[in-house]
Parts: sequence; C-alpha cells; structure tokens
Amino acid sequence: MTGRKRIRQVLAQGRGGDEYTVAGWVRSVRAGKGVAFVVLNDGSCLSGIQIVVEQQLPAFQEVSRLGTGSSLAVTGTLVESPAAGQRFELAAASVTIYQDATPDYPLQKKRHSFEYLRTIAHLRPRTNTFGALFRVRSFLAQAIHQFFAEEGFLCVHTPIITANDCEGAGELFRVTTLDPAAPPGGAREVDFSADFFGRPTSLTVSGQLEGELFALAFSDIYTFGPTFRAENSNTPRHAAEFWMIEPEMAFADLAADAALAEKFFRYLCHRVLEECGEDLEFFNTHMDTGLIQRLQKVAGTRFQIMEYGEAIRELQRAKVPFVYPVAWGVDLQTEHERYLSEQVADGPLFVINYPREIKAFYMRQNDDGRTVAAMDLLVPKVGEIIGGSQREERSDLLKERMAQMGIPSEGLWWYLDSRRWGSCPHAGFGLGFERLIMYLTGMENIRDVIPFPRTPRHAEF
Ligand code: 4AD
Ligand code: MG
Repeated sequence: MTGRKRIRQVLAQGRGGDEYTVAGWVRSVRAGKGVAFVVLNDGSCLSGIQIVVEQQLPAFQEVSRLGTGSSLAVTGTLVESPAAGQRFELAAASVTIYQDATPDYPLQKKRHSFEYLRTIAHLRPRTNTFGALFRVRSFLAQAIHQFFAEEGFLCVHTPIITANDCEGAGELFRVTTLDPAAPPGGAREVDFSADFFGRPTSLTVSGQLEGELFALAFSDIYTFGPTFRAENSNTPRHAAEFWMIEPEMAFADLAADAALAEKFFRYLCHRVLEECGEDLEFFNTHMDTGLIQRLQKVAGTRFQIMEYGEAIRELQRAKVPFVYPVAWGVDLQTEHERYLSEQVADGPLFVINYPREIKAFYMRQNDDGRTVAAMDLLVPKVGEIIGGSQREERSDLLKERMAQMGIPSEGLWWYLDSRRWGSCPHAGFGLGFERLIMYLTGMENIRDVIPFPRTPRHAEF
C-alpha cells in the first residue's frame, strides 16, 4: 500500500496534525454514542494504535460491528489522545476493510494458556506475548551477527545434510530418498550406495566439525543455523529442531573460549535491554518479575568459573534432595545445573574440565588423564545454555580417543586431515538460541520461543 507507515513508527515519530495511513488487525472494537474505537495492531510494536471512527464516515456501521482479528487499513489525522496510556490516536478519514473476521476467531479472550496457544500456532503470533517474543527473537538474531561482525569473525554456512554424528550421541534424523517399504538390498541389509548421496546421511546435530575446518583457514569463524536431534526427551528445554550459534577460534585455549562466551553473552543481555525495552517490560510484568533487574546485573558482572570436581563437592554438600545422585563422573542434570547457578553462584557460572567419559570425542584431553578441557555455561532457570571446549589438536591423541569410543575414522578422514597440516590449538562453543531466548524473556518452555516447535510427535504446523 502506498504511503503505509508501521504503527511503531507513527506512535514513536508521528506528528500531531499530520495525516497517516496504517494497516493491521483489529484487537478490539468499542462502539459508543456516534463513535467507534478500534485498537489496531500490525506487529511492529506491542501497543496498538487507537482508531477513532465518527458516525458520519460511510464505514461507521460496518466498523462498529467488526470482529476481533479483522484486517483493515485506515487513513486519518494523528491527534493527541484524551485517553490515558496513549499519546496519540488516529482520527479516521477513510477505512478499507479487507476482511471482517467471523466470531469463531479463536483469539477473543485476553488470556489463553500457552498449552492452548500451541494448538493454534498458526495464530498465536497475533497475541501480545508471541508478538513480543518474536520481535525479541528477530532482534537477537541480528544482534548475534552484529557481535561477530564487530569481533571480526567470518560467517560460514555449514551444511544441514551431513554424513557425520558430531556429538557421537546417535540422535540422528535420517535423510534418504529410499522407499522405506522396499529399500534396495532388503530391509535387513539396506544398500545405501543406491541412496541419493550414495551413503547414509542425516540432518546435522552441530556445525562444529565443519566450523573447525574453516577456523583453521580464517582463524575466527562462526556458524548460526538450525540443528536437529532425535532425542526422545519431552522436557521444557529440548526441541528436535533448534538453532545454534557456534563460534570457533584458532590459536585459542579454554580460557579464551570462556572469555569470548562471557563477552558475547553479556553483550546480548546489554543489547536486548537497550533495544527491546517495551517488550522486555511486558515480560517483566507478566512472565517473570525481576527479569530486567537480573539481566542488568548479568550485563555488568564477571562470570564465575568452577572446576567440575568442585561443582560435585558443592552438590554433595547441598542440603536439597536431588532426584539424580551425585558422584564424581556423573553428568550434571538440569536440577544440578540450576542449583549451582541459582544457589551457589547466584548468576551465570562456567563449569570446566569435565570427566572425559561423559564428553564428546573431539575435546582436548587434560594432563590428569581423566578430564577434558570442556566448559558449560550454566544459568539460573535454564541450566546449560552453552556447551564448548578446547579441541584435541594432537592427531595421535585424537585417533586414540576415537578408537576408544568406537567412532569409525573412515568417515572422518577429512576431519583427521585437519590435524595433519598446520594443526594448532583451537576452541569453540555452541549457544542454544532458544535457550538464550528463554533466559532473556523468562519464558519457561522451549515450545513457546520458536515459531513452530518440533518435539516428539509434534510437527503439525
Ligand atoms: O552441548 P552441545 O550438545 O554442544 C555441541 O553441539 C557442540 N558441538 C558445540 C560446540 O562446541 N561448537 O549443544 C550446545 C548447546 C547447549 O548448551 C544447549 O544450549 C543447546 O545447544 N541444545 C539444545 N537446545 C534445544 N534443544 C536441544 N535438544 C538441545 N541440545 C542442545
Ligand atoms: Mg552440552
């Protein structure tokens, strides 16, 4: 539409007395004596703009009866509003109704449960909560690219379809064009040489291995893309499809890795506070009072670092009944991660140098013979939000570890090559984008921070 302005722009920069055209979806209609008030929202900001339609306008009758969710465009004069809570309203001169929404439009009530809204994921972006959420998500995606651009990192698009299992956890979604009912070679011994890529392939669980190859050419790189894990866990923190930010730095050790993670994380807290004010206020009021204060504190504080062994001792000393028992060698569960960041550190906490038995094959072995140079960043409410490590750059030790863990080296010959010519210390990490959004908004379920969540048995929209 020619000359249409976004409501955000009109409310923030509009001048009283000037004429504007806006378009959007009706949030509410209130018909009074000879005048109708319509709140119109176009998603550009949390607030809608109040449209005032006087009865002499030809559209008056029709506007007065419009249903919530109807789509329209309005041209009118911006005037100071006598109503509380808004500076301006738009005195309509002409109204174009695109579609009058029928009364069965599901978003009539002010508040619906998140569970219900998940069943109408095609409509929930039109609610206040999801409007605020997806504006914050969009802002963060751009802030992440901006951070790495400012730091001089190369952006690399690692492949979505791969033939490796980076994390070695076997949580792969197969990619194939073979007919599942009649695979070549028979169901017992499928002949993958007849498959599209001539080998078994799957959706990537991480862009790290390819990222390492690029770090060994461009020094500092990052990848930011979707990752997939066929992990059959129904928790508020796990999705089968999620986005990950994975930087990788050559000539860097674990300390440099943690320093980058901290700078990055605090930068994002700072930027979201600075630029998503209205939406954050909304989350602070409705979702998590104390959110803004917490983010302000995190943006301005150094993160603590704790050895895994010390973390285990803290948990053993804790006077809370954990569901999962604690001993040196166990992987930390969400309840442990939350206890450490909430009760012990009272903020973000790096736990470093985990037992090698519970970590991936590529992590650098420490001299003690039993731990690896790993780091997890744990935060209140969410638990693990970042996982990273210094990588094993010594060819012989890497091969030995792969053999011990039963990881076939044939498919990873190219990865092993990176340790043959010009290998060097390097390190990186992965930040789960959805967990970041949960942390920054106070939303408690991963299904509510991604447009169309993929979890076991859910892929409808
Ligand atoms: O700890 P993870 O598995 O580490 C890696 O994938 C490494 N290759 C990263 C690297 O060093 N480049 O995953 C990293 C982060 C986790 O800390 C978590 O925030 C997120 O990814 N994550 C998930 N988020 C949502 N749903 C899931 N199923 C997730 N699994 C991991
Ligand atoms: Mg991890």
